[in-house]
Amino acid sequence: MPRGLFITLEGLDGSGKTTQIKRLATWLQNHSLDPVVTRQPGGTPTGDRIRALLLDSRSAALAPMTEMALMFADRAQSIAEIIEPALAAGKIVLCDRFTDSTEAYQGGGRELGSQVVLDLHRLICGNLQPDLTLLLLPSLQASLQRARSRNHRHTEQTGQDENRFEQEQDAFYQRVWQKYRDIAAREPDRIVLIEGNLGIDEVHEQIVEAVSERLITAGHTR
Ligand code: TYD
Repeated sequence: MPRGLFITLEGLDGSGKTTQIKRLATWLQNHSLDPVVTRQPGGTPTGDRIRALLLDSRSAALAPMTEMALMFADRAQSIAEIIEPALAAGKIVLCDRFTDSTEAYQGGGRELGSQVVLDLHRLICGNLQPDLTLLLLPSLQASLQRARSRNHRHTEQTGQDENRFEQEQDAFYQRVWQKYRDIAAREPDRIVLIEGNLGIDEVHEQIVEAVSERLITAGHTR
């Protein structure tokens, strides 16, 4: 059984990742390539509990190292329970955020630096690398506006509080943004950078183009 294909989506909060991952999943299904779709933090029963702890505004006093360790704990569980079994079964895995998020948010935003993230990734995640990463970077202002209004709506509708990151200051997001750009410059073969304030359809087209190319290279087309 040939190994599957591991695709991750990355970007700031409010970059449109969630919409795009749904559209990409539908596109793959329409081509008889049923993907396994998951997200981090969360996705497994244990991971969903870690997610609640991480995103709740009441976890305000979480130390940056604690936050990073919890992100990796969640990821280790997701790899063991979802990602590795799916890849071993030859499936395409679509994952909403992976270690690039930890490098951007904890390494950049929290200023822990890249090295500790990359070292932990080797130790805890067996250095598992995505075959393709789609990085959505519309303008910082547009992303933040969307993320903040969306999360307030979500809290009002569900009573769930997932606002801890959205309460960060713009300087935090500026660092996250810059770190994402650094990662993309360091790994141009893996990362496809989709920049600017594009429409949903335009972004989808660019994603489909990048994914089709990888599918052909990996011999996944039918
Ligand atoms: P989520 O609601 O999934 O955000 P989005 O829909 O924008 O992806 O919340 C995930 C939050 O967790 C997001 O603010 C980014 C943050 N995060 C990290 O700080 N480090 C990480 O390693 C991961 C996976 C997420």
